[in-house]
Parts: sequence; structure tokens; C-alpha cells
Amino acid sequence: MGFQSDFLWGGATAANQFEGGWNEDGKGPSTADMLTKGSAAQPRQITPVLQPEQFYPSHKASDFYHHYKEDIALMGKMGFKVYRMSVNWSRIFPHGDDTQPNEAGLAFYDAVFDALRTAGIEPLVTISHYELPFALTQHYNGWADRRMIELYLRYCTVLFEHYKGKVHYWITFNEINCGMLSVGNYNSLGILNAGACSILQQTDDPQQRFQALHYQLVASAKAVQLAHRIDPENKVGGMLAYLSSYALTCAPEDELKCQQTMQHQNFYCGDVMVRGSYPAFAKRIWHRNGVKIEQSAADIDALQNGTVDFCGFSYYMSNCITTTAQKEVTNGNLVLGVKNPYLNASDWGWQIDPIGLRYTLNVLYDRYQKPLFIAENGLGAFDTLEADGSIHDPYRIDYLRAHIEQMKKAVEEDDVDLMGYTPWGCIDLVSASTGEMAKRYGFVYVDADDSGNGTFKRYKKDSFYWYKKVIETNGEEL
Ligand code: BG6
Repeated sequence: MGFQSDFLWGGATAANQFEGGWNEDGKGPSTADMLTKGSAAQPRQITPVLQPEQFYPSHKASDFYHHYKEDIALMGKMGFKVYRMSVNWSRIFPHGDDTQPNEAGLAFYDAVFDALRTAGIEPLVTISHYELPFALTQHYNGWADRRMIELYLRYCTVLFEHYKGKVHYWITFNEINCGMLSVGNYNSLGILNAGACSILQQTDDPQQRFQALHYQLVASAKAVQLAHRIDPENKVGGMLAYLSSYALTCAPEDELKCQQTMQHQNFYCGDVMVRGSYPAFAKRIWHRNGVKIEQSAADIDALQNGTVDFCGFSYYMSNCITTTAQKEVTNGNLVLGVKNPYLNASDWGWQIDPIGLRYTLNVLYDRYQKPLFIAENGLGAFDTLEADGSIHDPYRIDYLRAHIEQMKKAVEEDDVDLMGYTPWGCIDLVSASTGEMAKRYGFVYVDADDSGNGTFKRYKKDSFYWYKKVIETNGEEL
């Protein structure tokens, strides 16, 4: 027993947080390239015109663009079976609606996929991870425009045809359920209703946002069908930010609110992608938000016939939900929540809950009966580079060990079908929420600071050697 022999151990990154080379070899600016650096106290700003006095972390990020050979070699040394990465849409279509793809952009990912193949690592490619060509925001207001479906599919067609045989695992959109939240307007949907503003204070129009999310869901379903048509070997996954909540008390009011929050934040999108239609409770959500979805017969057909092959999700933490006014609020991934008195939190206030991962795996497998993939998990923490080049990160090892133990229980005792595990930011990268480099997740340290200064040299952390052993023993030695 234990993990299946072909279990996909690996790590995950996203182009806008890792790649850099933001304007090299014909790449156009992406929505992420307009985001300034922030901090835990100061939210990132969206600046539609770049401001010379600001620092834009995605522009150089961890400079994978110039370090990919070395980085892939490090992944190979850890024994990765899979590497989850994203393609930068604006590297392939600099303006999003160009008639021809950018050959230099295609060549870059050819080189990356070839290097992965040589290292025996399977790529798992996220087609759009919190970015799109910024020109699509300027000219279409992102996914608010139905024409985005065709533009996205044109991009997908190029990817599926060009990389046929090189890539077999795809994810259509990162954390598509981010569109259920107002913070998802820009990051996830590319919608910008006003000029410069903070990511936390965007002008939110729920009618527009839910309709845009509908277009994304239709685009995703059509992409699944396209991927299968172009190469029947393709496996395409959905991907949710699994925002796990518990009722703070056993008061029925808390329990009901918790159920409704889970429906809103997770299952609305999950149900469409895996089951092929909106769940019954969607009507309540639309009604509460004053939304009426325009849904054609062709849309309904696409959703039904484009269900995903596997269900990917990110899991970092859990929160509590209560109806009482007096509560202690804490930070979290994408949403704030109520503090759980039984849990500790990371330096950024994300509550650490390994048992919640087993719970989540059971909820999702029960509900969807599809193979699951943990596409992100990990601890963002401060690390210290010692004078001798070592980094001692027992806190990260403890976090990952505890989560893998629970994964193992879900597989062994609960019989959950789990395909793989790709801890987030396997090589240090820029944080999505704050734009900091100091919030590190990696097994490999990148010598760069919050302002982009440093040698960008890579150093192995203690967790590097630990994770190598975990993979070598297929999760037996933790
Ligand atoms: C996930 C995103 O929600 O969380 C990643 O898919 C992100 O892009 C990750 O980096 C961790 O969040 P943060 O804010 O710590 O970078």
C-alpha cells in the first residue's frame, strides 16, 4: 500500500512569479507585469501605465528565463517526476489577438520541455496562471468580453498542436474560483473597471464578474474538448483554490453559513468543471448578488461535454466561519477568515492545518469521484542564507511532512485516488499576494531580495535533501 508507483511527485511555479524576461524576445506585457510590489501591510497596486519609481516584481522574478537549464537540473536531482509550470500567454501572443504566434516564445517553451524530457520530468502545464496579455485588458476589459473565449481557444490550439507529444498534462486556468471573489477581477479575469487602484480596492460589478467567470468556464470546457481532439493522450484538469472552512461553533447558523461559504468559494466552479453544469445552489448565489447569467444553448452543451479528467486544487490552510459579530480575524489565501483556536499560523497569518488536507481530499473525492491532484501546497516563510551557503528550514520540512502524512492516510485508509503532489514555489519565487521575495516556499533558495537585488544564484536548502529522500522512497521516509 501507500502511494501508487507512478505517483507524480514534483513541484509547482507560475510564469509571472518565476520566469522574468518580461519584455524579451517579443513577449508583450501581461496583466501581472502591471502589478507593483506590496507587502503584508501594503497591498499591491495595479498601474495601467508603468511608473518608473515603482518596482514590478514579475519583470525579473526569479529569472527562470535565463536559469531554466540549471533549475531543471536541480529538479532532476530532487527526483521530480512532474513539474507544474505555466506558459506566459503574452510570450506566445504578445497582444492576445495577434494573427500569428511569437515564434521565439514557442521556442523558449520547446527548450524547457526538451530539458524536462531529458531530466525524465513530465510537464504539467497551466495555460493561464493569473495573467493574460495586458492588451486584452485594455481592449476587451479581459474576460468581461465573450470574444475572449475564441482568443483563449486560439492560444490553446497553438499550445496543443505545437507541443503535441511533449506535454500530456494540462490545467486550463489556475484557481478559476478566484473569480467568485472581488479580488479575482484583475488577477484572474483581467477586468479593470477604473484606473490605477490597489488589488484589494477594485471596482466590483458582480453581474460583470459572474458573467466573465461564465465565459472562462465555457472556455475551459471547450479547451478540454479541443485538447482531447488534438491528442487523445492529453489529460486536462480543473484547478481550484480550495478554501477550506469549518464552522467556528456548532450553532446551526454557523454551520449553515459555513456550508454556503464552501458552496460559493469552492463548489460553484468545481461542480461546473467536473459535473458539467451549474449546481442548484447557484441560483441562490446569483439572486443574492443580483446577477443574471446569459447562457446560450451552445454554452450549456460545451459545459456538459467538456468536463475535466482530473481535479487539481491548491491547499495551504483553513479558516473558520461564524455568524457572530465578535471574532478574531486572520489572514489567508485569497480570503480573510476567523481564527481557529486549535491551529497555529504562518508568519503571514495563514493557519496551518494538515488534517484539513485529509478532510479536503475526502470531500473532493466523495463529491467528484475523479482523480485528484494537489497542485499547490506549502509554507511561505522567511529563510536565512548562512555564510557557508546553507539554509536550515526545519519549519518547512515540518509543514510538508505533516501534510504528506495526511495525504498518505487519505490514500491508504480512505482510498482516495490521488495522482500527484506539486508543492508550491519549489524554487523560490515572487509571492502573488504581496509581490515579496521574502515569502519563500522553495526547496531551493534564490539569492534575490524584495527589490530585485542579488546574484540570483541558487542554493539548496535542507528541505531539498529531505524532499529528495521522500521522492526516492515514494513517501515511505518522511
Ligand atoms: C495560490 C496561487 O493561490 O497561492 C499562487 O495560485 C500563489 O500563484 C500561492 O503564489 C501562494 O500565495 P502567495 O500570496 O503566498 O504567493
